[in-house]
Formats: sequence, C-alpha cells, structure tokens
Amino acid sequence: MNTLVVFYSLEGNTKIIADILAEELDSDCIELKPDKEIPKGGLTKFFWGGKSVLFHEKPTLVNDLRSR
Ligand SMILES: Cc1cc2nc3c(=O)[nH]c(=O)nc-3n(C[C@H](O)[C@H](O)[C@H](O)COP(=O)(O)O)c2cc1C
Repeated sequence: MNTLVVFYSLEGNTKIIADILAEELDSDCIELKPDKEIPKGGLTKFFWGGKSVLFHEKPTLVNDLRSR
C-alpha cells in the first residue's frame, strides 16, 4: 500500500509531526501552501482565521511535493 502524508502548517508545528510521520511510514509528503501569505504574528492570525470562516474563503493552494 502506498502512503501519502498531506498537511498544512501555518507556524511549523504540524510540519514537525508530518515530517516524523512521513519518515516513519517511509512515504511521500506534500505540504499545502496558499498562494497568498497568511499573517502569522500576534492576534492577526485569529482575526484572519475568523474572517476566512465567516466568508467561506478557500485559498488557492500551491502543492510542493518533496520526494523522499
Ligand atoms: C485561526 C486559528 C484557529 C485555530 N483554531 C483552533 C481550534 O479550533 N482548536 C485548537 O485546538 N487549536 C486551534 N488553533 C491553534 C492551532 O491549532 C495551533 O496553533 C497549532 O499548533 C498550529 O499549527 P501550525 O504551527 O502547524 O500552524 C487555531 C489557530 C489559528 C491561527
């Protein structure tokens, strides 16, 4: 069975876990990246997140396949 780990990480926490999973599973790993930068600092990310949910925003993603 082929395994693929697909993840999104704003600040790197999920990336750490995804990389460990992909290593343990000996699988490919794809990081989903939005084409526009999402704010990371302070409370801005929570306002951005709330607005995105409220307006049903779906960012365009650029997939970055890192072969293992
Ligand atoms: C807009 C926004 C909404 C979030 N909502 C939740 C939530 O509902 N439950 C939760 O446990 N954490 C929530 N978090 C916290 C993130 O899950 C946490 O910061 C996580 O470590 C981020 O992972 P990352 O470093 O891969 O981006 C939220 C963070 C942001 C910015």
